[in-house]
Amino acid sequence: MNSEFVLIVGGAGYIGAHTCFELLVSGYNIVVLDNLSNSQKESLKRLSTLTGKEIDFYEVDIRDSRSVDLVFEKYGFSSVVHFAGLKSVGESNSFPLKYYDNNVSGSISLLKVMDKYNVKKLVFSSSATVYGTPKELPIPETAPTSTINPYGQSKLLVEKILVDVAKADPDWKIANLRYFNPAGAHFSGLIGEDPKDIPNNIMPYISQVAVGKLEKLSVFGGDYDTVDGTGVRDYIHVTDLAKGHLAALNYLNSSQECGFSSFNLGTGKGVSVLELINAFEKASGKNIPFNIVARRQGDVAACYADPTKANKVLGWKAELDIDRICQDAWRWQVNNPTGY
Ligand code: NAD
Ligand code: WQD
Repeated sequence: MNSEFVLIVGGAGYIGAHTCFELLVSGYNIVVLDNLSNSQKESLKRLSTLTGKEIDFYEVDIRDSRSVDLVFEKYGFSSVVHFAGLKSVGESNSFPLKYYDNNVSGSISLLKVMDKYNVKKLVFSSSATVYGTPKELPIPETAPTSTINPYGQSKLLVEKILVDVAKADPDWKIANLRYFNPAGAHFSGLIGEDPKDIPNNIMPYISQVAVGKLEKLSVFGGDYDTVDGTGVRDYIHVTDLAKGHLAALNYLNSSQECGFSSFNLGTGKGVSVLELINAFEKASGKNIPFNIVARRQGDVAACYADPTKANKVLGWKAELDIDRICQDAWRWQVNNPTGY
């Protein structure tokens, strides 16, 4: 049990809310800070229903250092889990400054307040996007990094800033978590992914086709050098991912010296788009109409994790398979056809 507070920045969002759940049921005290630019307070209300705990929430932008400062002054935070970021690759190509400002300047702003209050334990949301076109599969953390869009660039820039921060001051303990493809929803059907517009990611897109909100899925590319010609990804259940944050936080709390360390959070197993459609049809009992169309610009053929380091160092392993991801995504979709 922990009597200190953990600040969950971006905690009202998709991965944040699932992580709040895992931390709360493990006995952590949390405070959520979010500007609600891509989420709703309803996710926190539902978390309270699920856990029976009230959540202290502050509607604040991480770039507003004065307001963030006031929240730090009020609580003795032991650590921060930082999810706050914009995440659409396509939008980042159209509005790069918006992405650099929110994701990079926002993170710098947050780090400065953390430094001021001597809060030096951080779990950061990075992405497998930093591996660019993988040279080897499965991808280890030691693989070279490169990005081709402002979103990916913003994640890589923050990673580099964090490396320098930890190098300059050995008191910092930073777990840099590189997520593969988060998907699925909480088993209760009460919290899940709630995209504002037409989804970019395949999982919410398929869900909306299955429920009849969208007509059919366009499969981007059928001529990749993969098992069936379609793109292969490492879909990780959001509950497994959330448990990865719990493991990372426990690691930062227990390890004496860790500096900056990157961890892949993935299953290690690749699933093709056609395999995913099949699994979703099985889970939902619905037919998913689709067309194979041209490749999407910037997509890689295959991307899946070597999660050995997280297994060994964090004692964490993804447990839930693609069938369970689809069952839970479908329950969330059916129970919440218009989102929260
Ligand atoms: P999300 O949009 O659901 O959650 C992000 C949360 O941060 C939202 O609640 C949003 O309102 C908040 N936020 C954004 N900018 C903010 C700011 N300036 N100040 C305060 N709050 C702010 O997204 P998610 O899927 O939960 O992703 C969480 C993190 O994980 C993001 O940083 C994202 O880049 C990263 N990530 C996501 C995926 C994915 O596929 N979902 C994959 C890899 C990495
Ligand atoms: C998965 C597969 C598509 C949509 C993105 C970001 C990455 C990370 C996770 C944040 C691919 C195919 C997709 C569709 C399709 N986010 N697809 N039809 O591109 O692996 O990763 O989200 O960090 O940075 O780039 O995820 O869900 O968009 O695509 O055929 O309508 O589904 O080609 O093979 P991706 P995705």
